[in-house]
Amino acid sequence: MKVLVTGGAGYIGSVTVRRLLEHGHDVEIFDDFSTGHRSAVPAGLPLHDSSLLDPESLAIVLARRFDAVVHFAAFSLVGESVANPLKYWGNNVAGSVNLVGAALEAGVPRFVFSSSAAVYGEPDVETIDEDARLAPVNPYGRTKLAIEWALADAARQTGMCATALRYFNACGADGALGEDHAPETHLIPRILLSRIDPNFEFQIFGDDYPTPDGTCIRDYIHVRDLAEAHVKAIEAVDRPGLTPINLGTATGRSVREIIDVASRVVGEDFAPVVRGRRSGDPARLVASNAKAEAVLGWRPVASDLETILGDAWRWHQEHPRGYDDR
Ligand SMILES: NC(=O)c1ccc[n+]([C@@H]2O[C@H](COP(=O)([O-])OP(=O)(O)OC[C@H]3O[C@@H](n4cnc5c(N)ncnc54)[C@H](O)[C@@H]3O)[C@@H](O)[C@H]2O)c1
Repeated sequence: MKVLVTGGAGYIGSVTVRRLLEHGHDVEIFDDFSTGHRSAVPAGLPLHDSSLLDPESLAIVLARRFDAVVHFAAFSLVGESVANPLKYWGNNVAGSVNLVGAALEAGVPRFVFSSSAAVYGEPDVETIDEDARLAPVNPYGRTKLAIEWALADAARQTGMCATALRYFNACGADGALGEDHAPETHLIPRILLSRIDPNFEFQIFGDDYPTPDGTCIRDYIHVRDLAEAHVKAIEAVDRPGLTPINLGTATGRSVREIIDVASRVVGEDFAPVVRGRRSGDPARLVASNAKAEAVLGWRPVASDLETILGDAWRWHQEHPRGYDDR
């Protein structure tokens, strides 16, 4: 298939581009490099250096006839979305509406969207399935849900086959492709960066949650597993309308467990600074992945913590300054 990947220079997008190429698909990237990295783009691949906020350039690119669009491009810092919500509604929602419009105009039959566990907010269930209540608690999550709704309406009306993949906690690295956000807000790179840069303070937020060790429980999914699910989504989903699918391991891991595994992998103890709870941080967020298995035939195979931490640590050691291309 000929596939356009928006945000293909970013963390999850770049790993997905690699997987799509390995599966024999023709890939083109659409990215404005607002948070992406030029060195994460394979040499020779068609690259459209442009923004979703430019409808004319979207129309020109989509006229190149794609069988599928895989849409990662977005801003995704929760704190920033609270401080500057319209930045998120503008880039994420308006940008996605432009993209979906251009894709429909060009007759693209398949669309895969990067959604998030943030659409569920603070659910009070042990394991979250796709029918759980959608109640995001921050602007970032609300933009993801708004895009799902726009996509559902558009796909229902036109017969497009759209999939919203709701990722839980993406992590790990894939060879030379790794996680380099600025600022980095994710737990695993923050632990490892504190080992690389002695001035980097590693904090955790809350150790008094109603969980066995008092720290938050999350569902950590290797970026390679996420990438594989996108390949399956463009190949397997042929149902008109929007199909939402969780991507997680169905296993909860506490912040303390992650720190323990990181200590083993790195060979050094980590002593985080413990701060108070952050608002909007539920005690537990763990996905049911039964629908991913039923619809996509997908199961995580690389998401044990040793593999995740080992791959991430290798990447950070090889890239102590990240991609170093800002
Ligand atoms: N990382 C996670 O744990 C996680 C979890 C749930 C959902 N997601 C979603 O997955 C997607 C990818 O996340 P990531 O961690 O790889 O982020 P990232 O910041 O590494 O990648 C996003 C990419 O999109 C590009 N981009 C942003 N706005 C654009 C625009 N207007 N036009 C063109 N390109 C633009 C950036 O330059 C970057 O290359 C995002 O939509 C994010 O919300 C990520």
